[in-house]
Amino acid sequence: MKKEAKNRSRKARINSVRKKLIEAAKNAQKNSYSPYSRYPVGAAVLAGSGRIYSGCNVENASFGLACCAERVAIFKAVSHGEKKLCAVCVTAKSAKPCGACRQVIIEFAQKDAEIICVDWEPLEKKEKITYTRASRLLPKPFNPSEAGL
Ligand code: THU
Repeated sequence: MKKEAKNRSRKARINSVRKKLIEAAKNAQKNSYSPYSRYPVGAAVLAGSGRIYSGCNVENASFGLACCAERVAIFKAVSHGEKKLCAVCVTAKSAKPCGACRQVIIEFAQKDAEIICVDWEPLEKKEKITYTRASRLLPKPFNPSEAGL
């Protein structure tokens, strides 16, 4: 296959994985348990094995016990033996991982892992997608090797 054709098929593969990730995050968002904030969030991660794990935010009457969608998805991946994240997708009205989730993302994500944020609400057709990289998520993160851990 010629180089250009190879590039085209690589891009098509990447775009099809992106679509699957976004769909998985949106489906998880529909299961959000957020009766207190009424702010549903979905997340999906592409793990090193090629598998996709999704999650939604899960709240509690004791508010501080809420867990973000990103961490639910990541912890599901890790508990299935995955240690490497290649991409992370978040869907919400205004989708941006919180600071705590950014620290958790960089614990497992490849530096160049793609972070896909989709501003979207269930039942809405309109969406806005932005892309960034894991290495750009958090300036001066807590660094285990600097801390001697
Ligand atoms: N939330 C997430 O799930 N992910 C984020 O990155 C930001 C916030 C959830 C936590 C809580 O259930 C609701 O959104 C409102 O803060």
